[in-house]
Amino acid sequence: MPDDAVIAVKPEIASKAGINAERHRAMTEAAERDPEGFWRGEMRRIAWMKEPTRIKNTSFTGDVSIKWFEDGVLNASVSCLDRHVEAGNGDRVAIIWEGDDPNSDAKVTYREMHRRVCQLANAMRGMGVKKGDRVCIYLPMIVEAAVAMLACARVGAVHSIVFGGFSPDSLASRIQDSECSLLLTADEGRRGGRSVPLKKNADEALKTCPSVKHVIVARNTGGQVAMQDGRDVWWEEACGSQPETCEPERMNAEDPLFILYTSGSTGKPKGVLHTTAGYLVWASYTHELVFDYRPGEVYWCTADVGWVTGHTYIVYGPLANGATSLMFEGVPNYPGIDRFWQVVDKHKVNIFYTAPTAIRSLMREGEAPVKKHSRKSLRVLGSVGEPINPEAWMWYYRVVGDERCPIVDTWWQTETGGILISPLPGAVPQKPGSATLPLPGVKPALVDNDGKVLEGAAEGNLVITDSWPGQMRTVYGDHERFVQTYFSSFKGTYFTGDGARRDADGYYWITGRVDDVINVSGHRMGTAEVESALVAHPKVAEAAVVGMPHDLKGQGIYCYVTLVAGEEPSDALRKELVAWVRKEIGPIASPDAIQWAPGLPKTRSGKIMRRILRKIAANETDALGDTSTLADPAVVEDLVENRVAR
Ligand code: WTA
Repeated sequence: MPDDAVIAVKPEIASKAGINAERHRAMTEAAERDPEGFWRGEMRRIAWMKEPTRIKNTSFTGDVSIKWFEDGVLNASVSCLDRHVEAGNGDRVAIIWEGDDPNSDAKVTYREMHRRVCQLANAMRGMGVKKGDRVCIYLPMIVEAAVAMLACARVGAVHSIVFGGFSPDSLASRIQDSECSLLLTADEGRRGGRSVPLKKNADEALKTCPSVKHVIVARNTGGQVAMQDGRDVWWEEACGSQPETCEPERMNAEDPLFILYTSGSTGKPKGVLHTTAGYLVWASYTHELVFDYRPGEVYWCTADVGWVTGHTYIVYGPLANGATSLMFEGVPNYPGIDRFWQVVDKHKVNIFYTAPTAIRSLMREGEAPVKKHSRKSLRVLGSVGEPINPEAWMWYYRVVGDERCPIVDTWWQTETGGILISPLPGAVPQKPGSATLPLPGVKPALVDNDGKVLEGAAEGNLVITDSWPGQMRTVYGDHERFVQTYFSSFKGTYFTGDGARRDADGYYWITGRVDDVINVSGHRMGTAEVESALVAHPKVAEAAVVGMPHDLKGQGIYCYVTLVAGEEPSDALRKELVAWVRKEIGPIASPDAIQWAPGLPKTRSGKIMRRILRKIAANETDALGDTSTLADPAVVEDLVENRVAR
């Protein structure tokens, strides 16, 4: 498919859509002309205890300060629950839970959700949790995860969710960084028929987390776990006898809602901090626009709540909009590779949002498993997390959507809170592989490496030139790192870390990260984290990690390892190192290739030349570029010769 292939918006889709091309244009112009007026209108999509009078107060220079709706007062849980119940929609299903086991599912109404959130919020208050305290959530994809998030919001506690696939060490360092006082977890998680020992991992992590005073444990699989007297309590015991209503804390618009740790190009993961009002407005706005969400529809985002996609598009966005959000505990290929489509038919899903890596792996299995199910409820398909290659896009469009459903390829980041660049189903013609146009109110630009703004069709670094309400406000506990990471590369703009190309129609084509962050199966990882895990092994002297192209995962993890003197490379050691990294970080960080490197290519000042290592990993060894500045060019020859073939 050529780059310029365009799939027009079908007239029957445009005529029913909430936003057509004309409205899209009008909104874009309105947001451009009068941002304050535009957001004063859009902020009414959430419930306020006191409406703000000040709308936007943001600066990308100097100390960088981002405030939206700053004198408003609200509670996010009220927007997501109370107001729907009060509007007479208490019996509407808020969450459809579909278990890993296809025979287990549940439906939770808004009224029921409200009750469960209030009971947990009361239990948390009883344990002394108060406004501003940090609470860690380490739960599988069960309804309790959403209940936990909203209960934190209700009492004004800041949640920090740690993905269930992270190791005890990764969990511990996140708990320590934000000094959480309470941990919410479960006995075990279940994925693809296997159990994940969450409580056991948590116990291991808590050995080094003195800030945690209480642990609330959800009974999920019923597996045997140890409970520590005075610290651990079962969920139903903590909540069972609590009152069914709970006064929501009055929160300022700029009070923190959550922290979510994410990988950067250097150092340890950073605590991305989002605040209450701007984030919630953004979640609601983007969920409605991008998916053309209509009341009564069933919406399914297949992400895990441990990632930002789960925060914004399983919980906050859909629930703020009163949608029915499907939450799936399992994996795409269990018990069969048709699981997604079986679930789509079972629950009559209208909007389906997943990651390219899932699409690519299902594509390999052919059309039959898809075609076996009707899928006629589907109306809009979405993609997120990494660039989607045009072949996968076309397969998704043709086979899954029967050429009937528009595809929204949504570009965004943990830092952006929600989608920034995406087509709208009824308004923007699609091009397979392009995230298309910015949403109304978003101002992207491309700059060259010197920061010069590029006009028209061009390729460069993707920056955003002005603030939007959903933007992260700081790195928890380290504002200087926030300023340095995002606002120092290109003065006065937010630097995304991504590269992009803009075509003659103004469409954006994201080309991937331009820093040392890699994207493995849609999971974001810093190469520095994998390196520090490797060098923590007693037999490793030095390590350099780069991404390599991978058919299914998008990127794989390629590690160059130098052993300490006297140690010999062996297959056993290779396996040991893979297991070591999985233990240190978690199974998602499993190295795909380990190459023994007697030396690494370094400049005379000792800096590792990653450009060369990336080329070798990608098998582009004819295009290594200039190696004359290396301290020892012979190192490269050895690496090329001993490259690990996949
Ligand atoms: C990448 C996930 C191309 C990008 C929401 C970004 C994408 C990183 C897309 C953020 C897309 C996300 N097309 N690339 N539609 N969506 N990315 O923080 O490199 O886990 O910087 O947020 O994923 O990953 P994060």
